[in-house]
Amino acid sequence: MYNSGKFTVVGAGPGDAELITIKGVRALQAAEVVLYDALVNKELLCFAKNAELIFVGKRKGCCTYQQDQINELIVLKALQGKNVIRLKGGDAFVFGRGAEEMEYAASFGIAVAMVPGISSSLAVPASQNIPVTKRGSAESFWVITGTTKSHTLSKDIALAAKSNATVVILMGMSKLAEIVGLFKEQDKADMPVAIIQEGTTEREKIGVGTIATLGEVVRKKQLTNPAIIVIGEVVRHRNQLSNIQQKYQRAKVTA
Ligand SMILES: C[S@@+](CC[C@H](N)C(=O)[O-])C[C@H]1O[C@@H](n2cnc3c(N)ncnc32)[C@H](O)[C@@H]1O
Repeated sequence: MYNSGKFTVVGAGPGDAELITIKGVRALQAAEVVLYDALVNKELLCFAKNAELIFVGKRKGCCTYQQDQINELIVLKALQGKNVIRLKGGDAFVFGRGAEEMEYAASFGIAVAMVPGISSSLAVPASQNIPVTKRGSAESFWVITGTTKSHTLSKDIALAAKSNATVVILMGMSKLAEIVGLFKEQDKADMPVAIIQEGTTEREKIGVGTIATLGEVVRKKQLTNPAIIVIGEVVRHRNQLSNIQQKYQRAKVTA
């Protein structure tokens, strides 16, 4: 028998407030408690007019709440009969701990639900005209974390570097030198790379280069977290598209 409280994990999208789903907005409108993370666009909180808003993210690298405390807070509020929303950046099932929190709440007999979000892993490259697959360029893509639970580089990056897939790395900015090394070992120094910081927001920054020039690009553009690293031939599409557009404009002017 469930108590009357409910716990719903909601994906807030990559940053642009318009990139949440309608279902996500409706969940916020019905919320009585919202626990939200640092990567969530705060504009979205205005949909939760009747809710208690609790920030549980990291500020300047410092956790306000540990994961155990967040879990306990969710259960406490839901067992009080509240409709609790956990608003997380992107999609809560992509490096978002959404699954863990749902399991924890369910183990207390709390009804749980999940509202998918638009993950930064796809939306941030897309917003910069970088597709993760493109006929002739990439048949598949990997989405990998740069930093694992034990703070080491994911071993999957070495495997991905051997493939022809597009490689999208989240939380990888502190491991750039190691990532570059792995691709160089595969003779991929000329492979195109884009780094997009705070994609889809007003603060968005992008640097484009190759595996060989990446360090220089990051220094020049002063790129830092939160950022997405996209490695693969698909990065060229951005330039190709812009060349087509410029050619069209020139032809229009001279016509
Ligand atoms: C803990 S993961 C959460 C990912 C999230 N669940 C998703 O689906 O987008 C956080 C990492 O996602 C990436 N990230 C999230 N939002 C981003 C954005 N707007 N621009 C660039 N990278 C972003 C960064 O690599 C950041 O360190």
